[in-house]
Amino acid sequence: MRVAVIGAAGGIGQALALLLKNQLPAGSDLALYDIAPVTPGIAVDLSHIPTFVSIKGFCGDDPTPALEGADIVLISAGVARKPRMDRSDLFNVNASIIRSLSNRIANVCPKALVGIITNPINTTVAIAAEVLMAKGVYDKNRLFGITTLDIIRSETFVAELKGKNPSQIHVPVIGGHSGATILPLLSQVEGVIFTEDEVKTLMIRIQNAGTAVVTAKDGGGSATLSMGYAACRFSLALVRAAQGEKNVIEYAYIEGNGKYARFFAQPIRLGKGGVEKILDHGPLSIFEQEALDNMLDTLHKDIKMGEEFVK
Ligand SMILES: NC(=O)c1ccc[n+]([C@@H]2O[C@H](COP(=O)([O-])OP(=O)(O)OC[C@H]3O[C@@H](n4cnc5c(N)ncnc54)[C@H](O)[C@@H]3O)[C@@H](O)[C@H]2O)c1
Repeated sequence: MRVAVIGAAGGIGQALALLLKNQLPAGSDLALYDIAPVTPGIAVDLSHIPTFVSIKGFCGDDPTPALEGADIVLISAGVARKPRMDRSDLFNVNASIIRSLSNRIANVCPKALVGIITNPINTTVAIAAEVLMAKGVYDKNRLFGITTLDIIRSETFVAELKGKNPSQIHVPVIGGHSGATILPLLSQVEGVIFTEDEVKTLMIRIQNAGTAVVTAKDGGGSATLSMGYAACRFSLALVRAAQGEKNVIEYAYIEGNGKYARFFAQPIRLGKGGVEKILDHGPLSIFEQEALDNMLDTLHKDIKMGEEFVK
């Protein structure tokens, strides 16, 4: 497998590159790209870790050398939140970055599986889709907004509350990746029963978890290490499925059947070509159904903003 990390000198990019260097299957190639001149040096640094994963770093204005031959492209290029910023405040800068990178992907590696980390995900995924579509290479099964951080946060917080081992807790999270669009399906967590108050408190904690990190870092950025872990977990699922493993199930923000919105975070079965099957998210509690109904206006607006930006 050849995996490209774009934005590799950033907080997420470096953590993700470190984890991938350690965990990609033997024989894989890792390509790092960032506009920051330090990027080739980061690759040299990581190359001293004794795993059978080759690594090269590229910088400058053109990501082409990192994208050439890529099977998977992971994008965390862009600016991150500072205190009192919403994810949508990142739109102006990050929208142009995603547009330009998607153009390069369309030209250089149109068949790659593309995972977008750059916020606001609800909108940046729509931008990438529109650019790829305009170039005639869009395959909705190959484009993902990575929402795994919402899942791992939910698993951690539920385990903490109930005194369980987080590795044994599974929490589906659907919707989008900002505020009220993040919908953890706590009614579906096996082996745990919540009171109504617990559901409400957990929901708020999960939806605001990103902001909690931004506030705690006090001007030093947003979640990087947990996001690096989350992106690695999702990327390795893509790799396992691409290499023929059966029944690889994940959640991601993808273009599905449009039941709720053009893009929606939902359960998917992954295969060699990306999304192999869209799975049913199962029954919702009354509270979850209400939260779903209430988020849709925001989600539609976020998606439209991305579509219109490209048009
Ligand atoms: N999906 C999620 O759950 C999630 C979680 C946390 C953060 N994020 C988002 O991920 C993004 C990156 O966060 P970070 O903390 O790593 O930020 P960061 O500022 O530490 O790193 C961003 C990197 O992108 C690089 N960059 C900027 N423009 C580029 C371009 N055109 N091509 C290549 N590289 C470019 C910068 O040089 C920098 O190294 C932000 O948009 C942030 O909001 C997403």
